[in-house]
Amino acid sequence: MSDDQYKPWAGRFSEPTDAFVEAFTASVGFDQRMYRHDITGSIAHARMLAHVGVLTEEECRRIVEGLQDILIDIERGDFAWSVSLEDVHMNIEARLTDHIGEVGKKLHTGRSRNDQVATDMRLYLREEIDTLLGELRRLALALVDLAEAHADTIMPGFTHLQTAQPITFGHHMLAWVAMLRRDMARLRDCRARVNVMPLGAAALAGTSYPIDREFTARELGFDAVAENSLDAVSDRDFIIEFLGAGAMIMMHLSRFSEELVMWSSAQFGFIELGDSFCTGSSIMPQKKNPDVPELVRGKSARVYGHLMALLTLMKSQPLAYNKDNQEDKEPLFDSIDTLRGALRVYADMVPHIHVKAEAMREAALKGYATATDLADYLVGRGVPFRDAHEVVGKAVRYGIEQGRDLAELKLSELQQFSDAIGEDVFDVLTLEGSVAARDHVGGTAPRQVRAAIARLREELA
Ligand code: ARG
Repeated sequence: MSDDQYKPWAGRFSEPTDAFVEAFTASVGFDQRMYRHDITGSIAHARMLAHVGVLTEEECRRIVEGLQDILIDIERGDFAWSVSLEDVHMNIEARLTDHIGEVGKKLHTGRSRNDQVATDMRLYLREEIDTLLGELRRLALALVDLAEAHADTIMPGFTHLQTAQPITFGHHMLAWVAMLRRDMARLRDCRARVNVMPLGAAALAGTSYPIDREFTARELGFDAVAENSLDAVSDRDFIIEFLGAGAMIMMHLSRFSEELVMWSSAQFGFIELGDSFCTGSSIMPQKKNPDVPELVRGKSARVYGHLMALLTLMKSQPLAYNKDNQEDKEPLFDSIDTLRGALRVYADMVPHIHVKAEAMREAALKGYATATDLADYLVGRGVPFRDAHEVVGKAVRYGIEQGRDLAELKLSELQQFSDAIGEDVFDVLTLEGSVAARDHVGGTAPRQVRAAIARLREELA
């Protein structure tokens, strides 16, 4: 039989589909990636139909076995996807009937491609969210390891990209982990709304068969059934939410990337990325380019774009299903591929970040990073903070004129600015003294970094 004869809706039509229209409207080129979820959904649906007596046990058994065979064929590469069968759903259904005969035509009883595709998308996305959560965790743990190795390594902390105060490199890594923890929480939250079952909504109004939606939901591991059939077939909020969370993940990775690119430049020289994560230049022999972080930074643009595409796709759609919804797939699939790739390469790369602690330390010693510590020291001696701020400002100006850091000035030079300054001032002007002093939850002190690492290890275990 030719594919055309299989078109399930051919009955109402007297002319065949225009060849270009067929290709233009087909989604099988991209939705075939959901073949496993489509088959899983169909098997559950068939079992439910048998459970309520719409199919006999024998019919159900033949349908389920047929679908299982098709799954094997697809995974073996032994399945010819046909554009004239439009999408993954009709391709599989047609093959089923080819394979098991007339009884295959009973599978679609009490459902529509509208609730079917919405179900497939949710099953597919649920699985991908779980994979992404695993990758986020792997990256977070790699950062925690790096933080632990450098809980005492001092670097300049920046505001406005100007040297601000000394911090520990470990603390900086844990700032990235803090972002990833929120990313994980957002994905888990989104997953709860993904895991609701549309099946049973059929085309839009529900079905006249005595279906048992709870039964199907249990079979498929859904937490709940969608409450309104019109909403069930047309809702794509769950994809938009996911893309929102995904865009945020890419924004975070892009921020990390920006820092890695800067830090690996000759001007900063704070880190070196492993050779296996860099490429050279075809013309400049000295170059080692941080391609991976640059590309991840660039790829954030895709996911932002896909988020905007989905919001725009949905903004003017009347209830219920519209063919527009077929356009939800490519942006979602590309976002997932992008997120998976970016997280994977980051989790692989982080253990290959070589930290140049000496260069970080030297940079922290420049730029008067302990000026706030001197002001705090004066406050400790009874000088009001605003006056202390001014005194230190003058001392910094003097240091700049002299070309020396505060810790390099003699006691007598410092005392020109305030007689509250004593011999013990040099304790607070050291980098170690400065970071150790910030010893409270959330502070940069090595002791706090280690405590945070212990908490994170427990949480991420
Ligand atoms: N390929 C379609 C999609 O991706 C499946 C649903 C088709 N439904 C319909 N009524 N034409 O949305």
